[in-house]
Amino acid sequence: MRILMTYNLPGNVAEYIRSHGFEVDILDEKVNLCDVSEELAQTYDGLICLLSEVIDKKLLDKFRNLKGIAVYAVGYNNIDIRSCTELGIPVVNTPDVLTDATADIAITLILMAMRRINEAQNYLRAGKFDGWKPDLLLGRDLKGKILGILGMGRIGKAVAKRAEAFGMKIIYNTKSGVKPELPWPYVSFETLLKESDVLSIHTPLTDLTRHLLTKKELLQMKKGSILINTARGPIVDESALVEVLKEGHLSAAGLDVYEEEPKIHPELLKLENVILLPHIGSATIETRTKMAYIVANSIIQVLLGEKPTNTVNSEVYKTERWKNLWKNNI
Ligand code: DGY
Repeated sequence: MRILMTYNLPGNVAEYIRSHGFEVDILDEKVNLCDVSEELAQTYDGLICLLSEVIDKKLLDKFRNLKGIAVYAVGYNNIDIRSCTELGIPVVNTPDVLTDATADIAITLILMAMRRINEAQNYLRAGKFDGWKPDLLLGRDLKGKILGILGMGRIGKAVAKRAEAFGMKIIYNTKSGVKPELPWPYVSFETLLKESDVLSIHTPLTDLTRHLLTKKELLQMKKGSILINTARGPIVDESALVEVLKEGHLSAAGLDVYEEEPKIHPELLKLENVILLPHIGSATIETRTKMAYIVANSIIQVLLGEKPTNTVNSEVYKTERWKNLWKNNI
């Protein structure tokens, strides 16, 4: 069986997969996945892709012999999951291992935004620091402030726990409603917007969450509050965010993700009260290595006709196509 890896992932996982008897090709960095020839595409049984690669119906038609896809990310909004399921293709992702690293980045952004770290560093590097002053670059205490978590999944919870250690009070809103096991109050989306001093987004990008925060919702946020997004850019209308920041309705923002990644809204680049990171939520050596081995082991399992627990479309295992494909194994 042949697997195409669109990037040479950390930890020499290509060799690891080969040692399990699979052929592995690594896509040349200069070649786009969508430019792979039809002839070559149909030779692959498995695909390991990145979150930035669009896996749509057209691509699936070209790679028509795929039996499994592993995405090197927890988010899988780049993949047409419905078509994969119809085609009997399990899709696996990398949950859990990146929770802590991503929560750490959200907290970093909260601290940086609350304490105006970007402005402070620019000020010093511009040679403006001429001595300690009582009113120089005053930020805000985290202690006692309300952190609103939008999307209380694994990462949302990890951020809430960390923020509590800084003395923040937590409220949350999440698609599945109240989570009785959690110590924090569940509030409506409107209350979350209205009450939060800092609003941190941890919801996946879906048809329901695309542009969940337009100008209307951003203006419902507390005056002077801060928006943090380490989830997916298109959840926020970026142009509207620029407007509310410029109008001073929000005092700052911390962003690790963008609406049209890797393009950044030119106005965001000009705003000193916006911290901009290049989508590094899970970017630690430990986490990225663990992610690599998860995709490697999962694609191996999928191509052996097994059902890894990190399959995002587990209904695929009930489809006739999948059953027919693996009937000798099940
Ligand atoms: C993911 O895995 O979805 C993250 O965005 C990567 O940092």
